[in-house]
Amino acid sequence: MTERRVVALGSGSYLPEKILTNEELSKIVDTTDDWIRERTGIRKRHIAAEGEFTSHLAIKAAERALEASGLTGPDIDLIVLATTTPDNTFPATATRVQAALKTKGFAFDVQSVCSGFLYALSVADAFLARGQAKRALVIGAETYSRILDWTERETCVLFGDGAGAVVLEGREAVGAPTAASGEPGIFGTLLRSDGNFYDILYVDGGVSSTQTTGHLRMKGREVFRHAVEKLSSVGEDLLARHGLKGEDVDWIVPHQANSRIIDSTARRIGASMDKVILTVAEHGNTSAASVPLALDWGVRSGKIRKGDLLLLEAMGGGLSWGAALLRW
Ligand code: COA
Repeated sequence: MTERRVVALGSGSYLPEKILTNEELSKIVDTTDDWIRERTGIRKRHIAAEGEFTSHLAIKAAERALEASGLTGPDIDLIVLATTTPDNTFPATATRVQAALKTKGFAFDVQSVCSGFLYALSVADAFLARGQAKRALVIGAETYSRILDWTERETCVLFGDGAGAVVLEGREAVGAPTAASGEPGIFGTLLRSDGNFYDILYVDGGVSSTQTTGHLRMKGREVFRHAVEKLSSVGEDLLARHGLKGEDVDWIVPHQANSRIIDSTARRIGASMDKVILTVAEHGNTSAASVPLALDWGVRSGKIRKGDLLLLEAMGGGLSWGAALLRW
């Protein structure tokens, strides 16, 4: 069967209104603005209001992505929503978005923590390439404020709430574009996981184990080390598969966890920091929402332009990690 070409049409994002600054956090736990900024680059994070759920954030980001693409809900026949903080244990949060936006076809969630958007993008790309759907909303949406231990300074300063979305379309053109052609579309994606590192970044509760929601726990230093190594190797591998190097990329759109991780990874890939979209200061680590949030900011700020070659990459709990290469 001939594969279709999968092209990105537009992006959108949403951050909850309430802002929590480092200064305000220092009144909740024993920390300082200086410590947080120096170690992570984060200045503030957004916190969902009471009664504001992951689906509400996802719907707002998706509406903006649809608007940017010149489409409405019924033009979409697939939603893949990446989240680790669903509204309910089931059904999938994606089905709430489907009902709100009146999209057609089918909708489901993907759970791969901070690399969730890369997994969702990969899954949607495969469905569209096979012609099982025509247009997809790929969303990353999270309310991490609900799974943080607000007494643990090592973790609660790092995360925030938010959502980002991208609209993809499968086209009749044959196969993925090549680097030389200059045509828009997804070149490829690369996913990895290693369950041996399950316990360096996890939530200490769950439906089957404790029947509680639990709180996020992390061995920060270990995660840091893995992040730099795994993000750079998956990025380099994907570029090499397409005969490219870091210097060929117009923009790296990395998972926004920590500016030091982003900086070290870009260096290893061989790209300078002025080719990296950096938004972590504004919203902290929003897990699966972070890559589409950064992508949307890059597009709306005029940095990312039509025809730019983008390398998206992320790593999270699992450990799981991945990258995507596309021309916008
Ligand atoms: N405010 C002030 N001090 C803090 C603090 C905070 N919020 N959190 C930790 N500290 C303290 C520690 O208690 C430790 O004190 P000690 O030296 O007296 O024992 C000191 O700061 C250094 O802690 P350490 O963990 O070694 O710091 P670090 O340089 O590794 O930075 C992280 C900590 C969490 C910022 C860093 O490890 C990191 O970013 N890891 C990756 C996290 C991440 O991105 N996870 C998500 C991936 S998807």
